[in-house]
This record gives sequence, C-alpha cells and structure tokens, in this order.
Amino acid sequence: MDKLSITGGNPLSGRLRVSGAKNSTLPILAGTLLTDQPVTICNAPHLHDVTTMIELLGSLGVEVVVDEKLNVEVCARSLGELLAPYELVKTMRASFLVLGPLVARFGQAKVSLPGGCAIGSRPVDQHLKGLEAMGADIEVVDGYVLAKAPAGLTGRDVYMDVVTVGGTQNLMMAACLARGTTRLYNCAQEPEVVDLGNFLATLGAKIQGYGSSVIEIQGVESLHGGTHMVMPDRVEAGTYLVAAAATGGCIRVVDADPTTLTAVLEKLQQAGARITTGDDWIELDMRDRQLRAVDIETAPYPGFPTDMQAQFMALNAVAEGAATIRETIFENRFMHVQEINRLGANIEVHGQSMAVVHGVDGLTGAPVMATDLRASSSLVIAALVAHGTTVIDRIYHIDRGYETIEEKLQQVGAQVQRVS
Ligand code: UD1
Repeated sequence: MDKLSITGGNPLSGRLRVSGAKNSTLPILAGTLLTDQPVTICNAPHLHDVTTMIELLGSLGVEVVVDEKLNVEVCARSLGELLAPYELVKTMRASFLVLGPLVARFGQAKVSLPGGCAIGSRPVDQHLKGLEAMGADIEVVDGYVLAKAPAGLTGRDVYMDVVTVGGTQNLMMAACLARGTTRLYNCAQEPEVVDLGNFLATLGAKIQGYGSSVIEIQGVESLHGGTHMVMPDRVEAGTYLVAAAATGGCIRVVDADPTTLTAVLEKLQQAGARITTGDDWIELDMRDRQLRAVDIETAPYPGFPTDMQAQFMALNAVAEGAATIRETIFENRFMHVQEINRLGANIEVHGQSMAVVHGVDGLTGAPVMATDLRASSSLVIAALVAHGTTVIDRIYHIDRGYETIEEKLQQVGAQVQRVS
C-alpha cells in the first residue's frame, strides 16, 4: 500500500496548476446518462473517484473513451442492465447520482445504497423523497434502491428538508426529462451545482435558478450531446493555499477560480496571509507574517466549506492563539485530530461537532494514518510544517481527491515522496 513520506520545515514557494473539480466531474459524468448523444467532458481530473465513475458507466453499457488530451468522451446510447452494484457504489457515494438520470430516462433503476467516506451516517432520504414526489415507486431491498417509473417522472414542487449537494444534483438531473415543471426548494448553492446546471443547459435542459435556493426545470423530451469544461477544483486550490500559509511560504495557484473560494480566502486573510487574485489565479504570501488562529464554522455554500475544515485545523495547530472549529454538516468529521496530535499538536474535541485548537510552536514528524479524503490533506499540511519526516499511511484516501499530489507539492519545493 502506497505511503507519502514528507520531510517538513520548508516554506512552499512557486506556482502550481489546479485540476478540474472532482465534485463537479462526478455528477456531470452521471448526467451523461440523460442523453443518447455523444458528450465530451474536458478538464476532468485524473483521480481514482473519476475512474470509479467511468467504471460504473462502463458497467451500465456506456461507451467511454479518454482521448489523447485526456478529455472524456461518453456515449450512453444503448444501456444494458440498469444496475449500479454495491462494489462500485460502496467506495464512492457520488455513484448514487446515477439514480436520478437512469429513472428519468429509462423508467427504472437498481442502485446500491452508498458508502464513501466514513464521516457520519450520510443518508439519501432527500434524494428518494424527491424522486417519489415526482412519481417514482421506490423500494429498498437488500441494500439496493429499486426505483420504477414506467410512465416517466412528473414535474412537481419538491422541498428538501436539509440542504444537500448530492440530493439537489440527483433531482435536478431527474427533472430534466420529467413531464412538466419541477421546482426544487432549499437547494444547495455550491459552485459544483452551478457547474452541473451549466452542463445540463449545454445539453438542452430548460433549467434556471441554479446557484440560488430555488431551481426551476421544465422537462423536455430528450437532451442532445455537447461539450463541457469542468470548473477548477476549489478544495484542491484551497488546500495548497493553506499549506503555503502554514509553512510561511508564498505560492500562486493558477487555473483556479477565486470567486468560488470567498469564505476560505477571507479566513486565510484573517489568519494573516496576504492574498492577491486575478481572473484565474490566486496568490498567497505568508513570508515574514505572523500566523494567527482563526475560528471556523462550516456551513452550506456560500458558508465555509466542510471540505476545508480539516486543513484549517492543521493551520490553527501551528498558529498563534487558540481557535474553535465547529463542524455543522457532518458528524464524526474530526478523525484527523488524533493523527495531527501525534505530531505534537494540541487539539481537544468536545462532542461530535466542536474542537478547540491551541496553537503550538512547532510539530515533529511521526508515522500517521489517513482516515478519509480531506482528513488526509490536513495530515499532509501538518507534515509539511513538522520538523523531521512524517510517513502517511493509507494514502489511497488522498488519491481519491488530489491529482498527483506529490508532483504538485514538489513543484513548490516540498520534500515529498511516494513510497510503497
Ligand atoms: C458533497 C461533496 C462532499 C461535501 C458535501 C458537503 C461530492 C461528490 N461530495 O457530498 O465533498 O463534503 O457535499 O459540501 O460532491 N443529508 C441528508 N439526507 C440526504 C442527503 C444528505 O440528511 O438525502 C445530509 C448528510 O448526511 C449531510 C448533509 O446532508 O449531513 C450534507 O450532505 P450532502 O450535501 O448531500 O453531501 P454529498 O452530496 O454527499
């Protein structure tokens, strides 16, 4: 099993390119099931989760080709069994996003209940409630969701009880081919929802309001093909910026979108960083500046993203002062605390949703273990700060979400090696 060996203590310096967003690519790939015409997805990141989604599409009978420019060409003309098996859905929750498109286009689907990161119970009740409201007959049998709508889905007003990114995406895709108008209320407003909305509009969907809390979709008979460029990965960009801040460095991330990172950039400024932005780049300068601890409370977009919580925990661990971190989106999302503390941090967890971080003068390298995707990136940041060498085990979690992380970090001067 691969490990990352990181010798810390160097301020990061230089520039690196941000990849396409994983959390955009996955729903967009699921959305290609809505049409029998060819679709090309550009700027998809080369990541394990993306490969899993491509494998899932392949198992459904979809033709998928990755061309020489790494564009993904998908054609879901004729499908086989409309089944998303447990083996593929358990490793990645986003696989569940094939449910809406399959039921909408084919009138039936059998999709395993999801797995994914071990962060809380993460139900899918809102996805199912919405599809039922649109006329699907849903049963859960032996861990599988069986959804049937032989006469097609019908547009409805659907109110989601919790703000859910995946729920919003599944229902907006399903509604594209439903009869009549669907209004989705209390929608997630994440940039990845907007990217999916733009993709669906490219295929001819009549969809409006995405990026706000109410999305209105007028169903159409069919969607056509098209080409879509995936947005930059805001969590990847944010992670490298936090790493630069924690190490007292100066980096520029390019092919990034600063408008999707407002809450994160504001917190980095509060922490003492100088931030400069252009249309598609962000520069962070922390040289000769004092790092200060910042309080964080996660919230749905445009609030502070839960996917950046762990990274700020690592930043606060070596900042001046103390800070509280409140996690409001997921339970059990503090698994990184124990591991960061192994490097000498002073972090206390209070209950399921609050942690207090007391900044320490320095960290020391030690063997640690990655527990989930974003938790792993906080260990990378802590290791980049720590004196000595840290070996991070189970980095398959990191490979789910960070494209060639060791190469990118090497480009900005980090001493990182992948070892088996
Ligand atoms: C997506 C992101 C993930 C991010 C999360 C929150 C992808 C592939 N993953 O995950 O990186 O951390 O958004 O920004 O885009 N919930 C319910 N019922 C539902 C659905 C969700 O109660 O039917 C709850 C969840 O348990 C959780 C909260 O809603 O507490 C948010 O989950 P959701 O927004 O759905 O996250 P994902 O779409 O799975």
